[in-house]
Order: sequence, then structure tokens, then C-alpha cells
Amino acid sequence: MKEFFNNKYTQGEFELGSNSICYSCPSNIALIKYWGKKETQLPRNPSLGFSLEDARTTTKLKYSKRGRPWDDSPDLKFYFEGSQNQSFAMKVSGFITKASEYLPFLRWLDFEFDSSNSFPHSSGMASSASAMSAIALIFVDIENQLFNLDQNQDVIRKKASALARIGSGSACRSLLPHFSVWGETPEYEGSSDLFAIDIDKQVHQDFMDICDSVVIVSSQVKSVSSSHGHKLMDQHPFAENRYLQARENLSKLKGHLKKGDWVGFGELIELEALTLHGLMMSSSPSYTLLRPLSLEIIEELKNFRTKTNCDIYFTLDAGPNIHLIYPHKEKENLLVFLRSLNLSCDVHHDHLGSGPKKLVVTNG
Ligand code: PMV
Repeated sequence: MKEFFNNKYTQGEFELGSNSICYSCPSNIALIKYWGKKETQLPRNPSLGFSLEDARTTTKLKYSKRGRPWDDSPDLKFYFEGSQNQSFAMKVSGFITKASEYLPFLRWLDFEFDSSNSFPHSSGMASSASAMSAIALIFVDIENQLFNLDQNQDVIRKKASALARIGSGSACRSLLPHFSVWGETPEYEGSSDLFAIDIDKQVHQDFMDICDSVVIVSSQVKSVSSSHGHKLMDQHPFAENRYLQARENLSKLKGHLKKGDWVGFGELIELEALTLHGLMMSSSPSYTLLRPLSLEIIEELKNFRTKTNCDIYFTLDAGPNIHLIYPHKEKENLLVFLRSLNLSCDVHHDHLGSGPKKLVVTNG
């Protein structure tokens, strides 16, 4: 990983030009799940997912140069939606400390972050991927500017993907628009455990208007964190088979994506989602994040599909919320299905995303 960053600048040998920068980065949803990891957040199996368009974190950083580098942890302020947030500040401080091993100039900076989500923080939608990817991209962009590295967008995003991975594994997929793969696999040339790669060329046009409507079954904080869930995979009796199965499923999904086969795709992503939760239920200690309503929606969706023959499928991340995945032409059916459920919970309607955006800093 250090070789990948290859940063020879360890001293404060730079002058600050501008001192503020702003990026918006999307959340992403996995279709082949990353569940289980090795040291420095390397995945036990490759994963495949896509970025969303509307679920985003926008982060602005104001930075200034210090007289000497900080030692253990950076000096930082973190504002989330206008208010200072201590728990986010601690998470980000830990991330910057790790990131400074690869980008040593970070030790010469003080930080003031101002961050907001386009979706409600308490919605239960995962925000670590969008949050970490925005910060990682900010740091790699600053490195590029400070040392006149003249790296193109692809190189910047690749480095940011590797850096975001250190903060939250799945965040590395949020640096890319559309479909991406993270984790080395013979299926996709150039794939790596260090960063995510773009696989759009191997995806049929019929998947390019893919939608994700997220039914917010619960907005409570998860009883078991993802990092703990990954750890439980180390002793999991099904772990080795799972890693093999994930590789096989990736290969099958690649075929469905190439052919534009929505039915094969749907069957497979639902299997992946339930396998993820099956692994949680068979961990030791076992736990479940699904709620009765999650299961009810899944059952109702299957009945609705039998009746209408529509292409609406589900996936899940590490939580109870149901991601309804469908081509745009099924939107009307999707709305009919949601109405038939008579839900009192919120639904976040989203679709395939265009990736990170650099924003002009105002009053900066
Ligand atoms: O990136 P983490 O450590 O929060 O793990 C995310 C794991 C899943 O969302 C369940 C699957 C994935 O690949 O995103």
C-alpha cells in the first residue's frame, strides 16, 4: 500500500495556495457482498456494486499549515449539518492518523470540516461510504495541488479509492461512477484488493438506468456494527465456503450484467443479500439485523412478482432496510407495489450515480 502511494514528501516542504476544498461523494450499494476482511481492510472476496446519485455526503475542508507536525492525532473541528459533532470528529481523527502514513503532509495541517448528507442522518441509510470517500478524495486532491503532481482524474480517484478503503472498506467503491468491482479477481482485468475499478464496459445498456428505492424499515443504530460483523467471519464455520461462493456468484453476475439478463441478475442479488444475513445469523455469537417488516416486504415482493412478472428485486446491506432494485421502466410497478404495502416508513428513491463531484467553495 505504501509503495502504491509512493510519497516522498515527508517534511513540510510546501506552501499553501488555496486553503479550502469541497467534494460531494455518493453512497453505494453492493450486489456481491464484501463480508470478511484481512489486515489493512483488504477483502476476503471481491465485491461488485454501484454508486447512487442522490444519497451523497458533501464535505468542505478548510485547512491551514502548522509550524510543526502533529504527533499522535490531528487538531480538528468537525461540523455536521452546522453543529459541532464530537463523535464524527473522533472517527475522522482516527482516519486522518491512518491516512497520514500514506500522505505524510497531512501531519503539517490543521483541519476544519463542514459536512452534510443529502439524506437524513437518522434514516438508517449507511453514510460511512459517502463520508469517507469524500474526505479521501479531498486529501488526494490537496496532495496533487501542493506538490504539483499533475495526476489525472483516474489516478486521483484510484488513490482516493485506496485511501477511502482504509476508513471504511466499501467506501472505495464510492469513488467511481456507475458499476465497480473491488477485490482481485480473474473476472475483471486490473482488479485489485487495494482499490475499486470501473467495470461499465462489461455492463449491458439495459442496466444503465438501474434504480434503487430504499425502504427505511428502521432508522435505529445497528445493534452490531459492520466492523464487528467482519471480525466474526474470522471464526465463522462457513467462511471459506462463503468466500468461494462469492467468487462464483461474481462470475455468474458478470454474465448476467453482460447479457442484460435482469431475471438471472435478480435471483442472484437476492441470494447474495440473504446469504449476508444468513452469515450474521450463523456467526458466533449469532445476531440478526432483519426486522419482521423486512421479511414481510420480501415475501410481498415475491408475491407481487408472481402476479405481475415485473423485474423488481431486492438487496440488503448490513441492516434491516430493503433496497428495491429495478430498471427505470418498472417505476410505475414499483409505485403500485409500495402503495400495496401501505407502509408508514420513508422511501428514498435513487438511481445509478455519476460519481464524485468537486464543488466550488463559497465564502471560503
Ligand atoms: O465497508 P464496511 O466495513 O461498512 O462493510 C460493508 C459491508 C456491506 O455493506 C454489508 C457489503 C458491501 O460490500 O458493501
